[in-house]
Amino acid sequence: RVLIIDFGSQVTQLIARRVRDAGIYSEVVPFQKASEAMAGSLPDAFILSGGPESVSQEGSPRAPQAVFESGKPILGICYGQMAMAHQLGGEVNTGDHREFGRADLTIKGACALFDDLWLDGQSYPVWMSHGDAVTRMPEGFQIVATSENAPCAVIADEARRYYGLMFHPEVVHTPDGGRLISNFLHKVVGLKSDWTMASFRDEALAQIRAQVGDGRVLCGLSGGVDSAVAAVLIHEAIGEQLTCVFVDHGLLRQDEAKEVVTLFRDHYNIPLVHVDASDTFLSALAGVTDPETKRKTIGKLFIDVFEAEAAKIGGADFLAQGTLYPDVIESVSFSGGPSVTIKSHHNVGGLPERMNMKLVEPLRMLFKDEVRVLGRALGLPPAFVGRHPFPGPGLAIRIPGDITRGKLQILRQADAIYLEEIREAGLYDTIWQAFAVLLPVRTVGVMGDGRTYDQVCALRAVTSVDGMTADFFPFDMAFIGRVATRIINEVKGINRVVYDVTSKPPGTIEWE
Ligand code: XMP
Repeated sequence: RVLIIDFGSQVTQLIARRVRDAGIYSEVVPFQKASEAMAGSLPDAFILSGGPESVSQEGSPRAPQAVFESGKPILGICYGQMAMAHQLGGEVNTGDHREFGRADLTIKGACALFDDLWLDGQSYPVWMSHGDAVTRMPEGFQIVATSENAPCAVIADEARRYYGLMFHPEVVHTPDGGRLISNFLHKVVGLKSDWTMASFRDEALAQIRAQVGDGRVLCGLSGGVDSAVAAVLIHEAIGEQLTCVFVDHGLLRQDEAKEVVTLFRDHYNIPLVHVDASDTFLSALAGVTDPETKRKTIGKLFIDVFEAEAAKIGGADFLAQGTLYPDVIESVSFSGGPSVTIKSHHNVGGLPERMNMKLVEPLRMLFKDEVRVLGRALGLPPAFVGRHPFPGPGLAIRIPGDITRGKLQILRQADAIYLEEIREAGLYDTIWQAFAVLLPVRTVGVMGDGRTYDQVCALRAVTSVDGMTADFFPFDMAFIGRVATRIINEVKGINRVVYDVTSKPPGTIEWE
């Protein structure tokens, strides 16, 4: 196990990703909780992340001193390097030369990190982002690489197996970064690659059985990948003790409800309660136009309906959720102030307390792409596993203005055509998320010899790594033209199509 101590860098999760890519299990803890995390058992190695603060600032974060007394290897990245140098008696100053972006690193000697990777005297591209610099090294350290603005770009104390990097090996802009981290883990620490989905699956099954005993588990299916993978995994662990409840709020995409029901009932033979609650949801939403009111109405009703169904089948001891690692990692907060709510996200939070149930969250240590690998290992159809994310409030937040059955029907058809064309063009897996939005705007058109006065459909497609930031997808305009023609010809009610070229930020992925 590798413990990653987080000093608040935006890219700390990527360190965890790289470590897992190397086949080694890693956990991220905020620096304030690092002592707790190493109290039970010491990790095999530590990685100290970057961070936004300056070491010379009063009260800036430090690693627990026990990290340096543990005798375990340490890799400090950016702020992590500064904190290590400072805590071991070196000197760190806020440099005159801040360095951001690409830099050339020149190797100045041998270092275990560079084994079979970087040669003495050669230069390699790396990604820098720092304001501080080590000005006097702690005892035992040597400079093994420099860059134009960073004389101490890489420092090493081979005897103690301490390494400090001024650049970010975890980002893709440092092309050899993954192999450098792998060298640290395999060659310096001597770890073996034993973190695989097969080993995770076996451990997870045992853990679920131990946690649940002979209790009953309820799992809310959303139609998304995470809850489906969680359900199938739990079913493998405890079989009939699991009941799945699928609340269809009437805001799903074309054929989505049918696909989920067929998959669970026919393919897996997992007991599934399919609740068609579309009337309840659509009447509550009638006339509602404010995005936040829509979200809150749906979120609250969802809990009510779920609770009522759960009561009908006699309740349960546990509620299963497809929570993922990014939701579990506590973020390092410096300001302490609450962050602004951009959108109130909808999930089944709040239910366990209300229903007095404990949580089973078998995916809480996994990243999204690991969940996909696990899903495939559990035999979920590849097309299901590779699905784009779909928001809990469904199509309600893709119809600005009020929602009617008629509008939902129009949007479903347009969305299905768009996705069909994207699949046919072989672009589905390159795109993070693509969908149609039905605008509450009518414009004039001409079809054949007649005048039309119909709604506008906006198409959205983005690339993203985690949904936090996104770029619009640069389709070939001929492709957009083809999709537009098909939608306007085939979907009654739409006579104009536009393409959304907004990135996130400043836009968000969904329109509401
Ligand atoms: P935004 O629109 O905030 O969306 O840029 C980021 C990602 O989150 C999805 N999303 C949701 N997912 N419940 C969910 O489970 C929600 O209420 C919700 N709202 C947005 C969105 O589809 C995108 O992938």
